[in-house]
Amino acid sequence: MYLMSSFSSSLPPYPFHSKISTIKTSSLGELESKTTSDSHKSGFLLSTSSHRKLDLISHYPGDAASIPTVDLSSSDSAREAIGDACRDWGAFHVINHGVPIHLLDRMRSLGLSFFQDSPMEEKLRYACDSTSAASEGYGSRMLLGAKDDVVLDWRDYFDHHTFPPSRRNPSHWPIHPSDYRQVVGEYGDEMKKLAQMLLGLISESLGLPCSSIEEAVGEIYQNITVTYYPPCPQPELTLGLQSHSDFGAITLLIQDDVEGLQLYKDAQWLTVPPISDAILILIADQTEIITNGRYKSAQHRAVTNANRARLSVATFHDPSKTARIAPVSQLSPPSYKEVVYGQYVSSWYSKGPEGKRNLDALLY
Ligand code: OGA
Ligand code: NI
Repeated sequence: MYLMSSFSSSLPPYPFHSKISTIKTSSLGELESKTTSDSHKSGFLLSTSSHRKLDLISHYPGDAASIPTVDLSSSDSAREAIGDACRDWGAFHVINHGVPIHLLDRMRSLGLSFFQDSPMEEKLRYACDSTSAASEGYGSRMLLGAKDDVVLDWRDYFDHHTFPPSRRNPSHWPIHPSDYRQVVGEYGDEMKKLAQMLLGLISESLGLPCSSIEEAVGEIYQNITVTYYPPCPQPELTLGLQSHSDFGAITLLIQDDVEGLQLYKDAQWLTVPPISDAILILIADQTEIITNGRYKSAQHRAVTNANRARLSVATFHDPSKTARIAPVSQLSPPSYKEVVYGQYVSSWYSKGPEGKRNLDALLY
């Protein structure tokens, strides 16, 4: 989720941040104790309607087996499976993806180490600028709830700018552990290659030339957001991350072994099972526009739990903020209006995510 000079679809640091003074100097861990007895004043309490939605978790725990897994070892069979998954889900796991598993594991453990082992002074050295839309660095995220009340997401995060190369400045990233910067660089390179391969297969699954979606996106802006969700004393009252669809083109996400990510499908929230060797692919809003709605972006959220912290690493691939995004001509007549990506993101920030209403506003 979030924004900056080069908008990141990874939930950029929220411009409303500055409205809450406590969050600027407190980590969620510190807020946690205050919130136990005072969740309403602390801003984490959901509105009544959102609260009712959360009740669904216990009724529909989800069918873990049904989220598709695509084996990328053969592109011929993968292409068809990806087409089915994009049409039915907007999300799928990939295995045999070519990214070394030890790199996934190292990325997870470095992320965890930053949040769990660094003292607060160290974390704050990397604090993102809460007064601007440019968001590289450490922060705690909040979003607007209904009727302009502020709802905090129960998460700490670190956003890294990794592509294009002109945005990549490892001195903005944690210096401990000693391989942190190198691993983030390698991880970004691997995720970009995989994202490009997937955009090619997704294009072909619609009968388009392999390069179609990537050409429509233009130069890829990549952000890697590591998110840490501390245990939450009252998980039934808060979300780790509100319901949204990612606003870029495609998101590649890994999680640790703690459940929490949910997908909205057929009017139910389904838990995405953690699979340590797999990478979760989420179709994001610009791909929905480019494919003229043949493939819809995935609506998702993260729930909290009382007992275990959870970690995820989301890698967002977005157009440049000046890119004009429109449905490809082969899939006409267009159902979506053309939009300048930067304007789409600004509008997203000013309205808040609330499901997919930003995208729906572009429909003819
Ligand atoms: C995101 C996101 C999910 C998660 O950062 O956009 O959807 O599991 N994260 O952390
Ligand atoms: Ni997301």
